[in-house]
Amino acid sequence: MTRILVTGGAGYIGSHGVLALKERGYDVIVLDNLVYGHRHIVEDVLEVELVVGDTQDRLLLDNLFATRDIAAVMHFAAYTYVGESVTDPGKYYRNNMVGTLTLLEAMVAAGVKNMVFSSTSATYGVPQEIPISESHPQNPINPYGTSKLMGEWILKDFDRAYGLKSVIFRYFNASGAAPNGLIGEYHTPETHLIPLILYTALGKRPHLSIFGTNYPTPDGTCIRDYIHVSDLAIAHVLGLEYLFKSGKTEVFNLGNGNGFSVKEAIATAREVTQKEIPVLERDRREGDPPILVGSSEKANNILRWQPQYPDLRDIIAHAWQWHQNQ
Ligand SMILES: NC(=O)c1ccc[n+]([C@@H]2O[C@H](COP(=O)([O-])OP(=O)(O)OC[C@H]3O[C@@H](n4cnc5c(N)ncnc54)[C@H](O)[C@@H]3O)[C@@H](O)[C@H]2O)c1
Repeated sequence: MTRILVTGGAGYIGSHGVLALKERGYDVIVLDNLVYGHRHIVEDVLEVELVVGDTQDRLLLDNLFATRDIAAVMHFAAYTYVGESVTDPGKYYRNNMVGTLTLLEAMVAAGVKNMVFSSTSATYGVPQEIPISESHPQNPINPYGTSKLMGEWILKDFDRAYGLKSVIFRYFNASGAAPNGLIGEYHTPETHLIPLILYTALGKRPHLSIFGTNYPTPDGTCIRDYIHVSDLAIAHVLGLEYLFKSGKTEVFNLGNGNGFSVKEAIATAREVTQKEIPVLERDRREGDPPILVGSSEKANNILRWQPQYPDLRDIIAHAWQWHQNQ
């Protein structure tokens, strides 16, 4: 069985990646330092081997690659809090950039030639045109986005120098949960809109803050591209198989292609949950562009990837099923 090392596989998107790999018949080892990941999801729910360790630990990586016959790496491990990256940039450059570099150097030393890399739409910065395609200029506006862009640059240089091939995915807003209810989104602290809406529906928060209601959008609130986490996971498997077949480094956006406003997300959540969901309208936050919507045409054409759950109702219903059971 082909064995894949999944870094960050105890986290939100990584655990869905592990599930998709298992369903496609791959053998999986998870490497996660458990700073934000959940041991029981990997060991008890997904029933996959967990190595607790850090992508910056070169000795551990050398040992893993020397002993475990790993064919490729899916690299989800990173810190992802945009606000924290502004106040503590060193933490983000060390973990996301140095962690990626250390992992890649260990792969080169061991002759492991394929990586699927989690990048982000945050590498684009403030959009100049909508929908955003892969050729849009990349001008990140926070250290989190910059640390991910650096990862992309390193990957392209490692292809030229060592023939290490990668599929780089720039995701928009990952959301939802596995339709079978097994795994879902559980970040502490939580900063993403849909889980915050659902925590409010569950009464775990008194209200939901809407930051800005006077944007140049139809209802005045920001529009974002929400992509179901299971659709992201399937794209990762397709990306991996594209690498195995074509041996070519490539970059793809992964988004829904449809934008939804904050108010639309709240209205849909009210329908799905049948709860009131009190809101508090606040001033705009600095650095929030009015609209962020991606074009995933390239992934549609080359990987033959189509989101199975583009409907916001499904995304919220799956997330609600998960949150109610926690
Ligand atoms: N959530 C989104 O909407 C979104 C959007 C674009 C890109 N991404 C990218 O997707 C990836 C996964 O994001 P997520 O939302 O699942 O985050 P997450 O925090 O749920 O998962 C990340 C996992 O990586 C682990 N980790 C972090 N640094 C590590 C290290 N140095 N060594 C080993 N393990 C480490 C954490 O413990 C955690 O389990 C990240 O690379 C992120 O930048 C996420």
